[in-house]
Amino acid sequence: MFDLSGKVTLVTGASQGIGEVIATCLAQMGAQVVCASIPATEGDLQRVLAAIGEAGGKADYVLADVSNGDSVRAMVTTVVERHGALHVLVNNAGITKDRLLIQLKEEEWDAVLNINLKGAFLCTQAAARPMMKQRWGRIINIASVVGQMGNAGQANYVSSKAGLIGLTKTTARELAGRNITANAVAPGYIATPMTENLPEEVKAEFNRQIPLGRMGTPADIAAAVAFLASEEASYITGCTIPVNGGMLMP
Ligand SMILES: NC(=O)c1ccc[n+]([C@@H]2O[C@H](COP(=O)([O-])OP(=O)(O)OC[C@H]3O[C@@H](n4cnc5c(N)ncnc54)[C@H](O)[C@@H]3O)[C@@H](O)[C@H]2O)c1
Repeated sequence: MFDLSGKVTLVTGASQGIGEVIATCLAQMGAQVVCASIPATEGDLQRVLAAIGEAGGKADYVLADVSNGDSVRAMVTTVVERHGALHVLVNNAGITKDRLLIQLKEEEWDAVLNINLKGAFLCTQAAARPMMKQRWGRIINIASVVGQMGNAGQANYVSSKAGLIGLTKTTARELAGRNITANAVAPGYIATPMTENLPEEVKAEFNRQIPLGRMGTPADIAAAVAFLASEEASYITGCTIPVNGGMLMP
């Protein structure tokens, strides 16, 4: 457990899956958590908030589309107006639109890049302003093991996640002088709504490729995020932490 009390934390894509568990975990460690997602998921955000509140955590939500600059800037303004600060940003919102490279449609490329990579840029840019004034900040990007190794059928997704690792390093270099760190977590295969519909034989094949022999859990990712958000991680920046059961040892 790390002490995140007093830390205002914004988690994008917090209505389900990994983002929900990251938000819940950071709230358990004392952070004031703002859960963000698109308007269509408002019901899920309310469910997440209720669960965090029942467990004694502090959370509220904001509706935003990370691929839209005006929406992102309004989201960050709302967080700062409500809570007076923004200490930790977790860029978790992400989508897939998988298809082999030669069949991939231009709009499928744009949709994935706009949310996964441009979205993280827009959120980082907006959050950097209050963080620079505070002279304290943590930016944590949820990348992917496939951004480090490539994956057939995911040219758009892999490019977005590889780009996110580059964005992490540049953010780290530009903002280090203001005591803001930027790091990424690169999950392997994690059991979430994104992966639950895979056929059993595909899941079994994944498990054979993973030295630890199982898919990861959202809690495995949340633990790495909690560490990077903590005071204890203050000398780590520009780094990508693999949380993949050993399937890639970069
Ligand atoms: N599940 C895995 O195996 C896995 C592996 C590696 C990396 N990841 C990454 O982890 C992150 C979370 O994945 P997940 O499996 O929990 O996915 P998920 O589909 O369960 O959740 C995605 C979240 O992003 C939100 N979102 C989608 N578009 C948005 C937009 N335009 N603006 C704001 N929010 C938006 C959704 O509403 C949802 O809350 C993603 O970045 C994903 O790429 C997942």
